[in-house]
Amino acid sequence: MLVGTEFPDDAAVYRISENLALIQTVDFFPPVVDDPYHYGEIAAVNALSDVYAMGGRPLTAMNIVCFPCRKLGTDILVEILKGGARKVAEAGALLVGGHTINDDEPKYGLAVTGVVSPGEIFTKGGVEPGDQLILTKPLGAGIITTALKGGIAPAHSLEEMIHWMATLNKGAAEVARKVGVKTCTDITGFGLLGHIEEMIRDSGVDAVINVHSVPKVEGTLALAEAGVVPGGAKVNRDFLCDKLVFAAEIDEVMMDVLCDPQTSGGLLMAVKKEKAQEALRLLKIKRLSYAAVVGEITPGGKGQIVLK
Ligand code: CO
Ligand code: CO
Ligand code: CO
Repeated sequence: MLVGTEFPDDAAVYRISENLALIQTVDFFPPVVDDPYHYGEIAAVNALSDVYAMGGRPLTAMNIVCFPCRKLGTDILVEILKGGARKVAEAGALLVGGHTINDDEPKYGLAVTGVVSPGEIFTKGGVEPGDQLILTKPLGAGIITTALKGGIAPAHSLEEMIHWMATLNKGAAEVARKVGVKTCTDITGFGLLGHIEEMIRDSGVDAVINVHSVPKVEGTLALAEAGVVPGGAKVNRDFLCDKLVFAAEIDEVMMDVLCDPQTSGGLLMAVKKEKAQEALRLLKIKRLSYAAVVGEITPGGKGQIVLK
């Protein structure tokens, strides 16, 4: 076992031979958007992401489905599965089966099997002073999908957010590999700051975050300003309370965005300083137009996040 439950990471990694390790992960959740095809895409991209976050390549995927067939009919389910299948194909993996049960609330996702060379695994730990933290997708998923549930999501914000949630982290992981990244994770329920905290925990370093360089989908701040913030953002923030250092005045709305739980978020990678510009250039070529350096690892710290 190279990566197991002792130090949980994005996925489990099991060594098969000297040059080959198996990656296993599973993820599924209820609908985050109204359109079943987009929901299927997003759930599949989210499940595949944990393989990319470990530096791996997905080989096979299996559908996990909970669905009220009698109540909603199978047309909607077919759309969900089509969306998922399209993203599995785009990832270059094969859909090889699955399992469906009856359930009042729909849920969909994938169990994914991938491979990685043991020397090329990305983990959450191992950051070093000077490393630049690059985020590859904009934030806003929790806030915008909360607005959607309340019927007040601006159409352009929602459309853009769906685009990013349905974007594979494949290209981002290829860039990470190319610039020699060792520390990487994907942004999901703990929000940007929660995932940064995991990265620096017990590393004897701090992370200095340049709050204004953090990319977000247009409209996110305005919704947060109006109080449209999922409960998870508050939970995330409370969890981090003794880890945060305010080096500047950061307004509450910005804190909500930084702690906003993401669905199918981007990769957060630690890139050596001299490689950061090259990484950004390559990420833009992969059409990850929001990719940005959001902070830096600094020495002699206590695992705190300094916000400025
Ligand atoms: Co993950
Ligand atoms: Co996951
Ligand atoms: Co079965």
